[in-house]
Amino acid sequence: MASSVFRVLSLAILAFACSLPFAAGNSHILGYSPSDLHSEPRLLSLFDSWNLKHGKHYTASQRLEKHKRFQIFRQNLMRIEAHNSKEGSTFKLGLTRFADLTREEFMRSRRLGLKLPAHNLGSLRRTLHLHPKSASSVPAVSDSVDWRVRGAVTEVKDQGMCGSCWAFSASGAIEGANALATGSLVSVSEEELVTCSSASGCDGGLMDDAFEWVINNGGIATEEAYPYRSYGGSSGACNIEVEENYKTVTIDGFADVAPYSEQALMEAVSKQPVSVAIEASAMDLQLYAEGVYNGTCSSDPYDINHGVLVVGYGSEKGVDYWIVKNSWGLSWGEGGYVRMIRNGSPFGICAIHSLSSYPVKAASGSSLVAES
Ligand SMILES: *[C@@H]1O[C@H](CO)[C@@H](O)[C@H](O)[C@H]1NC(C)=O
Repeated sequence: MASSVFRVLSLAILAFACSLPFAAGNSHILGYSPSDLHSEPRLLSLFDSWNLKHGKHYTASQRLEKHKRFQIFRQNLMRIEAHNSKEGSTFKLGLTRFADLTREEFMRSRRLGLKLPAHNLGSLRRTLHLHPKSASSVPAVSDSVDWRVRGAVTEVKDQGMCGSCWAFSASGAIEGANALATGSLVSVSEEELVTCSSASGCDGGLMDDAFEWVINNGGIATEEAYPYRSYGGSSGACNIEVEENYKTVTIDGFADVAPYSEQALMEAVSKQPVSVAIEASAMDLQLYAEGVYNGTCSSDPYDINHGVLVVGYGSEKGVDYWIVKNSWGLSWGEGGYVRMIRNGSPFGICAIHSLSSYPVKAASGSSLVAES
């Protein structure tokens, strides 16, 4: 009797151990249990919870669309679980806010937006065959840095369905440079960059063009003075009055980081948050939940299509990583961030060494750099 109770108990424990539920560290990402995958009603209820979490509602007349979304959600969940049950991966996938989209739909939804004009591609091509800087020729930098804990990074933002990643990458770099130079962290306006600095707005742009515009304009407005309204994908006309009267945050210049060198990027990031470009169309990035990303994105510099912000670097269990701030809201990755592997390759994971730059601003008043 006692032994059969014991057997039942140990079987139950074994069954539980074999199907550990996935609860993402980010509470904005819905967890799931592998046993959900084998029951249609549980899958449906998981889909309902996910829709609720992300404010998605389907009316009776949208039943077909809901069914289509459910099929994609289910397929993605199978993919997520297949990845998560593999041994040895340094990262986990999860039911992010993009879990009901196919890869093609995700690409069409304009969550990216880095646009390389033809002449830039030309110069990219020229530098492509440069030898990476040898590690011994550059000064040593500290083992880890995280500008978030030093008060140089604002909250994670959301570009919506507008190809304005470049504006969010640039605003983050400006916020960092300004915080380090003045000691105060001020959120700046992507909307101003999208509507005033460029004719293309939601159709894509470049971080260096944004820096140049802020310099020529004599400053940029705060997020508060000129809030983001381009989520839906169309940007309005430039608010000239705000543009002319709210040049609150200024920069003095900007500099490009030597491409194809992990060491050069580390050196730059050890001084301030840095704008970088990555290739971001991989499905394992769309569904990235936590850990050190080492996935299937392209590391070909010609493929870069997304602007983000490196706010630090470090190591975990012998795996080196970059800390990258994205503009896809909180319900993706580690509270909107992704840690990406630093693998010592010339182009870096997702070609992250290809197109990095940062604004320059001279220190005034109490500077954050002083504390170390
Ligand atoms: C990253 O992925 C590559 C290619 O799949 C693999 O060879 C390498 O071991 C992985 N790195 C880590 C730290 O898991």
